Amino acid sequence: MKISRRTALRNLAYTTALFGLSAQARLPEQHALPDADGMLEPGFDADRYWQRIRAEQFSLPAERVFLNNGSLGVAPRQVLHAVKDYLDRAAALHIEDGYPRWGYETLDEHRARMAEFVGCSVEELAITHNATEALSIIAGGMPLEPGAEVLITDQEHPSGRDPWRVREARGDITLRQVSLPLPPDSPAQLAETVISAIGPGTRVLSFSGITSPTGLIMPIREICDAARERGVATVVDGAHMTGQVPMRIDEMGCDYFAGSPHKWLFAPAGCGLLYIRYDRLDEHFPVIATAQWDNKELKAARFMRFGTNNRAIIEGMIAGLDFAQALGSERIYARIHELAKYVHARATELPYVDMLTPADDSMYGSLVTIQLRLDEDRLARLWRLCDERLIWTTGGARLRISTHVHTRRSDIDLFFDTLAEAAA
Ligand SMILES: Cc1ncc(COP(=O)(O)O)c(C=O)c1O
Repeated sequence: MKISRRTALRNLAYTTALFGLSAQARLPEQHALPDADGMLEPGFDADRYWQRIRAEQFSLPAERVFLNNGSLGVAPRQVLHAVKDYLDRAAALHIEDGYPRWGYETLDEHRARMAEFVGCSVEELAITHNATEALSIIAGGMPLEPGAEVLITDQEHPSGRDPWRVREARGDITLRQVSLPLPPDSPAQLAETVISAIGPGTRVLSFSGITSPTGLIMPIREICDAARERGVATVVDGAHMTGQVPMRIDEMGCDYFAGSPHKWLFAPAGCGLLYIRYDRLDEHFPVIATAQWDNKELKAARFMRFGTNNRAIIEGMIAGLDFAQALGSERIYARIHELAKYVHARATELPYVDMLTPADDSMYGSLVTIQLRLDEDRLARLWRLCDERLIWTTGGARLRISTHVHTRRSDIDLFFDTLAEAAA
């Protein structure tokens, strides 16, 4: 997909129309994106373009090798600008729409922008502080008969597993776990593994759209459709999805979804998304409550009534969305997936590496996970060298490498050269 300056300006005009004097409209000229016209023409130097994006749009120092976007992303300068701009204006009581605090307001325009991006209706989407909170609201507030079984996989992040463990500890539900093949052979094998684990007592199937420990993309639609046929509600933990892969909630067929835009969607830390399918909204219970907790007219906004909060973070989240849309989601995906394939290719060559990410590149996006067969001394040397060289990835013998738009091919090379040096 080609994104021109005209498209970027159109996005800007749309944002401005929606928010009046928006943060984007106040964006200083130095944050303008370089022209990507010609990106699809032969001879276009894509590496150079993305290096300019990194150098001009992010505060990352040139010497920092950041390969751990999966834990927390880095916000570009225009996002930081939007946060600071809001705080400055709030401190001067110079806010166009009264003095909204997020936590009591429904923030309809912000939710509408996000809902359009993630593919659901505004009534179905709430803004939370992170995916953990969204998952806790889902698990804590879902009405279930006593003893109902909840099925999860063995690759859930603690935030996708432990809210159910709390309900189990309270004696509300039973929890069962299905093991995923590692590495899996195919999406069909993954779907079959999960679907065949659904039992007669299963009422909820809660799983990650992209798994945290291995970055595997799950066959979400197939699993959700099969669960629905069996009368089982589905929860998709999409913490790694929003911004990493092109996605629409309405194409997944799930009943609940949680997102973490501060990982891949350029949002500042402290932003989450909660989706509850329209026909389940009224029966759901809030787990944090203040006035109007029972006002079902609010739809999903009933679940973002937390009390006073930092609204500037939400302005930053929308600025992150603007940034992603100005770059173009498909173009971002093409770039970061190509880099991940490069990581995969480099890792596959190494005799002391077991690949946990399958070779079929439809099964991963921008996270590649490897298991190092190295002794303690060599591993210690690797982490010491990474520290010295300012390389930041996940630690341990199982390593997850993330690529994003600020990742340079040279970052990947430096990591693998360092690994070879440590393994020698
Ligand atoms: C799959 C998955 N779910 C949930 C979370 C928790 O996300 P957050 O820190 O935004 O609450 C993570 C964080 O790494 C994750 O990987």
